[in-house]
Amino acid sequence: MLRFWDALDDEERDQLTQQIESIDLAEVARLMAGVSDAPDWAELAKQAEPPHAVQLDHAENRFTADDALRRGEQALRDHQVGLLLVAGGQGSRLNFEHAKGLFKIGPLSDRTLLQVLIERQRAVAARYGTRVPLYMMTSPATHEELVAFLDKHDRFGLDQADVQLFCQGTMPAVDFQSQRILLEAPGQLALSPNGHGGMLEAFDQAGCLDDAQSRGLQQLFYGQIDNPLLQVCDPTLIGYHLLAESELTTQVVRKRDPLERVGNVVQLEGKTRIIEYSDLPESVAGQRDAKGELRLWAGNLAVHVFEMDFLRRMSADADALPLHQARKKVKHIDDDGNIVEPQSENATKFERFIFDLLPMARNALVVEAAKYAAFAPVKNATGNDSPETARQGMVQRDAELLRQAGAQVDDVTVEVNPLWALDAAEAQRKLQPGLHVTQPTYFH
Ligand code: UTP
Repeated sequence: MLRFWDALDDEERDQLTQQIESIDLAEVARLMAGVSDAPDWAELAKQAEPPHAVQLDHAENRFTADDALRRGEQALRDHQVGLLLVAGGQGSRLNFEHAKGLFKIGPLSDRTLLQVLIERQRAVAARYGTRVPLYMMTSPATHEELVAFLDKHDRFGLDQADVQLFCQGTMPAVDFQSQRILLEAPGQLALSPNGHGGMLEAFDQAGCLDDAQSRGLQQLFYGQIDNPLLQVCDPTLIGYHLLAESELTTQVVRKRDPLERVGNVVQLEGKTRIIEYSDLPESVAGQRDAKGELRLWAGNLAVHVFEMDFLRRMSADADALPLHQARKKVKHIDDDGNIVEPQSENATKFERFIFDLLPMARNALVVEAAKYAAFAPVKNATGNDSPETARQGMVQRDAELLRQAGAQVDDVTVEVNPLWALDAAEAQRKLQPGLHVTQPTYFH
């Protein structure tokens, strides 16, 4: 790490010193030595059961959707709910040179991911006559750009007092041949954000936990910046969470394919947990029940509702979230200072996952959503989970909303701004009766 020390100026030396001091070298060494607390998932997964879940159209659900909606609406009216968006990821698969939040996703409007989600947040707040503060997690890779973009656009209509950005921590990348921490530049380690689980520590350290408490918030609605279908602060999900007295509730969708690349929400040893798709043996993933349905059916959407007290309790020991290792391509400099752009994975990165909190929560609850209405992530530049599929998802959901509101919609691109109508009932009040949509139309 100090190879180029003699050539650095004072400022560079200070920066490098700070970076080195922020690393727990013993921990990195322990992880690299293969000492891991990670369980043997392949073995454990054999005992996995489907999660206890509130399912769509399921007669045996403990609560009705109507009761949940009313309970959640009350919580919103009582100013109990805050929103947390995680936007610290490097978005490496997307091949977009800016923070993902700046990606233009609106099929007709060209609105960015950030604007799409904030407008939904504002629409929910307006409907319930409440303020929903936004906490957004950034990382050194995205912070400045997101701050500047929000300023430039007047936070898309949110009050300055209701927006707080906080920066997550980083972990170094370790070359797996030499087992050395990589340098990005002579005075700069190759650091990357420490995973969405870094939120637990960063939220507290930035004072957001105290801020949320001083505002009287009791639930935090958690979502990812790269899902334009995120049902921001969905009252029904919040309502189920409250009725079940859950400390952590997670929204899932029914998997269509056993090997779908989403985390599997399961019940294991009496706890709700997520087993990553890469850890679930094919033989287990493919199991079907008597009706021919996938037994482990619940796919993780990374949409959660946290009880604030639970977050506070867990924040006292943020290291309780394990560090996972991932093999990635990491650009760096070699011993002579030449830039190396690896063609294949060369280094290990370390990340914490927020969903590792699930087994620690009392009464963790799983709630099923319809995929078309809740999830269309922007991950890859092309193909699955790309901007193209996300836009298709947005159009499909909005067309469905308009049809439910009584319009006839041809096979054309439509887009609905939630500030115009948050749901079909609101759209129905605004649409001309008998409307036939024959051309691409943005309702806003
Ligand atoms: P992903 O794990 O899909 O990563 O993040 P990513 O950064 O968006 O994309 P790739 O893997 O580099 O291509 C899921 C969500 O979690 C956030 C991301 O911003 C995204 O909203 N995230 C991820 C963080 O906030 N911090 C992290 O360290 C990692």
